[in-house]
Amino acid sequence: MALHIGSIAPDFEQDSSEGKIRFHEWLGSSWGVLFSHPKDFTPVCTTELGRAANLRDEFAERKVKVLAVSVDDVASHKRWIGDIEETQNCKVEYPILADGDRKVAQLYDMIHPEANDTLTVRSVFFIDPNKKIRALITYPASTGRNFAEILRVIDSLQLTDSHKVATPADWKQGDDVVIVPALQDPTELEQRFPKGYTAVKPYLRLTPQPNR
Ligand code: BEZ
Repeated sequence: MALHIGSIAPDFEQDSSEGKIRFHEWLGSSWGVLFSHPKDFTPVCTTELGRAANLRDEFAERKVKVLAVSVDDVASHKRWIGDIEETQNCKVEYPILADGDRKVAQLYDMIHPEANDTLTVRSVFFIDPNKKIRALITYPASTGRNFAEILRVIDSLQLTDSHKVATPADWKQGDDVVIVPALQDPTELEQRFPKGYTAVKPYLRLTPQPNR
């Protein structure tokens, strides 16, 4: 069945560069980012895994666990991690799943046969502490992902979970946010947004980021 925003992220057990992973148990109460890589020892993937490693503190600050998927085996992953650390000046401290049997790739629909029969595309699944898929993005193998965007999506999801707001185009931490149209009660508006808001149109109300 197709996975959508709101679907429960399928659980699985798979070997990894850090031993066997039972996905839901491994996530615990954290957020998760599960991202796929077409193959070990490929140039774009090497830069992506290095970037994710160098953003360790940013992910930790947001209580996000990172898990990579690639279809090669553990021995290959371990050799590749050596190259990633050497060339990207990083320490890879998150696991890379050894998905030789394509179990995870198939479960998460990461193989798009019109693109390639056997290798995964570049998928990213954002998973919340209730194991729900909250966002997903998909790029072709030739386009490396933007990790600033991955962090920005997490920031938006976490902010909009705790306040009745949404984030506008190109929003980043500290920018004004949009009040959700369903919120109309003047008392609640005053309580939630004591700094006030600007109604550009009745449906487009901007307010300073509430948790800043
Ligand atoms: C890469 O990671 O560099 C890559 C992988 C598959 C196809 C094209 C590029």
